[in-house]
Amino acid sequence: MTMATNNQSMRDTALTQLCGFDQLDEDEPLRAEIDGFAYAVFKVGEMVFVTADLCSHGPGFLSEGYVEDCQVECPFHQGKFDLRTGLPTAPPCEVPIQTWTPVIRDGIVFIDPASPNQI
Ligand code: FES
Repeated sequence: MTMATNNQSMRDTALTQLCGFDQLDEDEPLRAEIDGFAYAVFKVGEMVFVTADLCSHGPGFLSEGYVEDCQVECPFHQGKFDLRTGLPTAPPCEVPIQTWTPVIRDGIVFIDPASPNQI
């Protein structure tokens, strides 16, 4: 049974498991790794957003950031990114972060790591 799906058109064969939907908390982003690359997974309402965990400005991890209004504030210099687009919304961040469209199936959050969203 499908709980929720942000994009049904992704190829199933390319999907890789990130985490369980039940592991996600609106107030606490989750860090998940696939093949040594770290992703940050965010729950906003019933929507799930996936970004690269590493901030584009420096060494901050966005999975440790503060989430408000569908934006994450990096804990290192307090720059912000829009979770929907990856675009920076507050300085000092100027370079977008990569995002992926998750598929949520049977309570599991998947992405295709090889198919990030176009910025
Ligand atoms: S490292 Fe994220 S804002 Fe500087």
